[in-house]
Amino acid sequence: MSKQMSALQKARAAYEPKLPKALRSGRISVELGEPSHPPTDQDEIKRLFPNTYGQPVARIVEGEGGLSTEPLKVGVVLSGGPAAGGHNVIAGVFDALKAANASSRLFGFLKGPGGVIKGKYKELTGDIIDAYRNTGGFDMIMSGRDKIEKLEELEACKKNFVDMGLDGLIIIGGDDSNTNAAVLAEYLRAQNARTVIIGVPKTIDGDMKNEQIEASFGFDTAAKTYSELIGNICRDATSSVKYWHFIRLMGRSASHITLECALQTHPNVALISEEIRAKGTTLAEIVDQIVDVVCKRAASGKNYGIVVVPEGLPEFISDLRTMINEISAILGKDEEYIHGLEDHAERVQYMSNQLSDHSAKVYGSLPGDIQQALLTRDSHGNVPLSQVETERLLIDLVSDKIRALKQRGQCDAKFSPLGHFFGYEGRCAAPSNFDADYTYSLGYAAAQLVRAGLTGYTANVQNLTCPADEWVAGGTPVTMMLNMEMRKGRPTPVIKKALVDLDGAPFRYFAANRDSWAINDDYVFPGPIQYFGPSEVCDAPTITLALEKSESSCRR
Ligand code: FBP
Repeated sequence: MSKQMSALQKARAAYEPKLPKALRSGRISVELGEPSHPPTDQDEIKRLFPNTYGQPVARIVEGEGGLSTEPLKVGVVLSGGPAAGGHNVIAGVFDALKAANASSRLFGFLKGPGGVIKGKYKELTGDIIDAYRNTGGFDMIMSGRDKIEKLEELEACKKNFVDMGLDGLIIIGGDDSNTNAAVLAEYLRAQNARTVIIGVPKTIDGDMKNEQIEASFGFDTAAKTYSELIGNICRDATSSVKYWHFIRLMGRSASHITLECALQTHPNVALISEEIRAKGTTLAEIVDQIVDVVCKRAASGKNYGIVVVPEGLPEFISDLRTMINEISAILGKDEEYIHGLEDHAERVQYMSNQLSDHSAKVYGSLPGDIQQALLTRDSHGNVPLSQVETERLLIDLVSDKIRALKQRGQCDAKFSPLGHFFGYEGRCAAPSNFDADYTYSLGYAAAQLVRAGLTGYTANVQNLTCPADEWVAGGTPVTMMLNMEMRKGRPTPVIKKALVDLDGAPFRYFAANRDSWAINDDYVFPGPIQYFGPSEVCDAPTITLALEKSESSCRR
């Protein structure tokens, strides 16, 4: 890490994250509830997890104490894309272990789960931890996307844990990583190994949540960072009054980030993939919707505007999906022949002839470079749909349609579009106060679950719209969150991804207001995340969380 620190970094290093009351107590206990069950596929999950199925929900309370005060050796690993607050999870684990016994030791596995399999780690001392408190990023120990799944990987992990004398491992990751945590916990328990496994819910995508896990960490900071940038662009649009900005936002499949940014900034158009899939909206219909807004705004003299789209959108557009499946099948048999054809036009012609009529029409409507990109397959044999720059695709299709309407005298828009992608800009920002407090509390809670000897749990912190003092921490058995889904052609136990709920309060609020946002300049300018200042400016949770919890007693 660079030795030079910015003024903000120095001030921020001194920030003391808030902890729930029970975690601040000197007599922490863990209360266990009734046995738990997943909502579906109970028999199959019980069969696959005979040693960890049915464990009770855990709640961390101020009580009689009774947790281990022996010196513990604990490992941590960061898995998947960075999310603001990862370092504070580790700091929370470290402080909690040291508070219980100053001789406890913490080890960081390097570059993600691959480091656990290979046994690559470093000891995390107080100096290292202090240098990373309240910072963004995962650079303290780095991350990776390996999975601990195969028998030889599980065996390698066990061997490393035995060699290290490890009492517990805390896996900080999203739905897949927490599923992996359950698999590893089950394996170790079956082997009578002493190491326990605890997960922590991370992902900026916000799609690891359920009744027990109110939010995944990093979502708050990323959505606020993107919203700042979108707000700035809204202000530029109303100042320059000449550009239409098409902004693609990160979020592999779920549209939570796009929805939250729309709630924070009120763009003229925000596409929510889950709604598009539910309604079976086609690509042409999406283009028509945007064109309609562009022409209506032009009619009232506004030749500018903001469109936000989620990264995962193409996967949710039915005719695009069908076309991709057909292209995959055609490439599966004719790839060599197609690539042997002389020029682009011939390849496109060949593909169009092979596709069904509707897919040929969709394919024919795409810009040339996207047609070309869709003629290749990645190392897994998939057509690389995620590489389609959706904002550019929409810009091209909307431009064509407006040109045609103008020729027929049906639209009077001056359409100057600009494309943006906001993704990596938001993942490593310095954590907001919410994420700094939430992650530190999650880490502190995870350490208590290790001290209690629990395994196969994801740490949780609930009541998140109340002041941190009233937050309640605990542990959710991972098997309780599992369901069976087809993965690589096989039924596999996985944590169900939480997509945007079209009946939920955040989407309903958006749907009730979007017509007004489309035509009027109702833009909101959230500005940059504030770390110091009044609580309503610095500590507010996301609008998504506030609306989801609006029934609860202490909405902030
Ligand atoms: P996680 O689910 O691992 O947290 O990652 C989320 C994410 O940031 C997505 O929003 C994005 O599509 C993806 O990671 C990008 O991955 P990579 O960092 O490998 O480019």
